Amino acid sequence: MNMQQLDSDLWITDFPLRFLGLEVGARMTIVRLPDRQLFLHSPIAATRELVRAVEELGRVACLVAPNLFHHLYVGEWKQRIPEAAVYVAPGLEQKRPDLELAGVLGERPEPLWSDSIDQVLVQGLPFTNEVVFFHRPSATLIATDLAFNVGPGSPPLTRFVFRLSRAYGRLTPTFLERLLVRDADAFRASLERILAWPFERVVVAHGQVSESGGREELVRGYSWLLERGQGA
Ligand SMILES: [Fe+2]
Repeated sequence: MNMQQLDSDLWITDFPLRFLGLEVGARMTIVRLPDRQLFLHSPIAATRELVRAVEELGRVACLVAPNLFHHLYVGEWKQRIPEAAVYVAPGLEQKRPDLELAGVLGERPEPLWSDSIDQVLVQGLPFTNEVVFFHRPSATLIATDLAFNVGPGSPPLTRFVFRLSRAYGRLTPTFLERLLVRDADAFRASLERILAWPFERVVVAHGQVSESGGREELVRGYSWLLERGQGA
């Protein structure tokens, strides 16, 4: 169990995961809402030990699958905690008809978490359809695949490949993501809404947490897109 507390109501826990043959890990983020209700973002495997540790933090109120790829373990959690409400990124309602949903994530936060968490549905990248969250009390951006942050904590092969693609040691979108943008203007507008939040810390699903200066790092990582907008 490697649960780590980042702030008074914010925890992360990681899980080994390979993507395109590379060990990149996957991270679940846990936010405690008022009334000790828990918001589980991008759930990882629901081992008995993890479920017990999470339940010590509060009551699991919602399970959130934030994009089209981070949904694999939501069903396991729902089985263990049937009263938890499942919310998924748009498109997952078709991809996962087996899940009993409370709702599909959109441009506005659900009443359950809107007091402390805001959200943006990233437009223009239908490959992931990611919803990005901002936890106001801890000034934390909670993203999934919007950026990776592979650093010294990753295995040698992963570090090597990310170095080759100039994505090592910094918070930046992957090369793949750049290729898959379908509507750059829509994507940039979503990104600008995200960057308008006053966040310092950035938590992503793969790689290191940026404890401070995360906003500036993200601006650098997306300069290719943001600068195109200024020139238009
Ligand atoms: Fe991912």
